[in-house]
Amino acid sequence: MIPKSFIQDLLNRLDIVDVIERYVPLKKAGANYVACCPFHTEKSPSFTVSQSKQFYHCFGCGAHGTAIGFVMEHTGMGFVEAVEDLAKSAGMTVPREASNIPQHKVAPDLYDLMQTATRYYREQLKITPRAIDYLKRRGLSGEVAARFGIGYAPDDWQNLKAAVPDYQDASLVETGLVIAGEEGKRYDRFRDRIMFPIVNVRGQVIGFGGRVLDKGEPKYLNSPETTLFEKGHELYGLFQAQKAIRAQQRVIVVEGYMDVVALAQHGVEYAVATLGTATTPFHVQKLLRLCDQIVFCFDGDKPGQKAAWRALENALPHLQDGKRLGFLFLPEEHDPDTYIREYGHDAFEHELDNSLPLSGYLLRQLVAEVDLKTQEGKSTLLKNAQLLITAITAPTTALLLRKEVAALAGVTQAELEALWSVKPVAAPQRPAPQRAKRAAPSGLRTLLRCLVMNPELARELPTDWSAEGNEAAAIAALADWLREGADEVSTAALIQHFQGTVHEAAFAVAQGEIMHLGADYDAAADFAGLLRKMQRDAIESEMSALLAKGLGGMSQAERERHEQLKQALQQLKSQTD
Ligand code: UTP
Ligand code: MN
Repeated sequence: MIPKSFIQDLLNRLDIVDVIERYVPLKKAGANYVACCPFHTEKSPSFTVSQSKQFYHCFGCGAHGTAIGFVMEHTGMGFVEAVEDLAKSAGMTVPREASNIPQHKVAPDLYDLMQTATRYYREQLKITPRAIDYLKRRGLSGEVAARFGIGYAPDDWQNLKAAVPDYQDASLVETGLVIAGEEGKRYDRFRDRIMFPIVNVRGQVIGFGGRVLDKGEPKYLNSPETTLFEKGHELYGLFQAQKAIRAQQRVIVVEGYMDVVALAQHGVEYAVATLGTATTPFHVQKLLRLCDQIVFCFDGDKPGQKAAWRALENALPHLQDGKRLGFLFLPEEHDPDTYIREYGHDAFEHELDNSLPLSGYLLRQLVAEVDLKTQEGKSTLLKNAQLLITAITAPTTALLLRKEVAALAGVTQAELEALWSVKPVAAPQRPAPQRAKRAAPSGLRTLLRCLVMNPELARELPTDWSAEGNEAAAIAALADWLREGADEVSTAALIQHFQGTVHEAAFAVAQGEIMHLGADYDAAADFAGLLRKMQRDAIESEMSALLAKGLGGMSQAERERHEQLKQALQQLKSQTD
């Protein structure tokens, strides 16, 4: 783990303008820098970089992030790798938080070591009939086994002694191949297992998954997270599948190693698997960069259903109009491996073609949770749908879903948008930077904007602060984050922290707005004024609710409350005047 404080230091030390200029030439435009966006095709520049706030934002395609995010997005590096790369350029060394990973830079010899182990396991497979039989029984040909570099780790404690020059070398532990036990005794992590190498997009082996041949626990043993291997960023089989994914413009995300391999065996070569984790936002972004359609095909059982829903949640902020996401739910007793072995290639592809679109799946689940015949059910639907649907920034998708949810709840789209305090989506809204002023943002939006300008202001929010809507949720999350850690937080650190969360979309809107503000904009003053105004509004509305009962209709407690509110209001007014 890289300590959070280091990420902040790094972001403070770097200049995003220098970082981006290594890849894309920038031009100065007012307070900012601009370029034609490297993430989508365009003729006039809408990719904007704020040097003072250290983030970028594309008004065309919505791409946004910090220097770290840019390097990840532009080069396809994982988070750790991008941090290492940037730290090196800034002359910093990445510290590691206490974990079993010793401090060490990603040295090429670690990759060599993994390669050596892969070769060794493959040789062992060739001379172990029991392992070969196992793979044959699962329907795999030698060709497919070779394509995935599948091997076998023999049933001994120190197999790798035969494969490496020095079994005591620290790098063996660092790669997770060997476990250092008590009293300096070392032993292989993988014993008597079928070995699936996990390969990064550059073709380097970064980890393994090992399956027992017979019964045993755990069924799959995976490499731990190491300097080479970060689970949330890698997809099993992506290296082998890349070409087919581009050619077919489609990728299938499955749960298991064997699913990927079995699909390839039957000619479906564009499948990848998450590595025992949920589908992360990073996975979704990575795959959408390669092709137009993702189909999630998880096991038919309960955990599979859960995995599908997590995938949906994490995909929402990254949806793009024109890109299709679908879900294929197999019969409960099947996974993709057993399904394609039983029914074959054509039947499987037919199922893929008929997969349930993301929006259909989302609505189906939302509706299943409530009873739409009742007022309560409709109101719950609106509440449950809010965070999910407002996380979507793809304009057409957002528009259609808002319309459908509104119709289901028996309200108009405008009513729904007012209820959720979101801007109406009509035509795709891509404000060009030079365009005239848009409608004045709501109080909450301005509040959020102030906080993105200067996150430290969130410390001034009252601890019981709350409001409705996704901007308010983002504000509350920011305040929580600041309360948890004492470090001073910059705009870039905030953006980095909330990247890939449900709050990312709300923050992104504010980031876009900041780009247009002058250098003399005083966020602190605006923030203080707004906070006072919101407090005043809250007090006044509570007072008028009480007054509506008439002085005679109020209980003693209510009269006291009214008096309290009156004083609080006077105090607030005296602060402003
Ligand atoms: P499954 O239990 O669905 O196994 O786990 P599977 O892929 O169908 O495997 P076979 O067909 O029995 O060989 C799905 C995935 O979850 C992770 C692995 O990545 C596996 O491929 N997993 C599962 C583990 O990491 N550890 C385990 O013990 C089990
Ligand atoms: Mn299986």
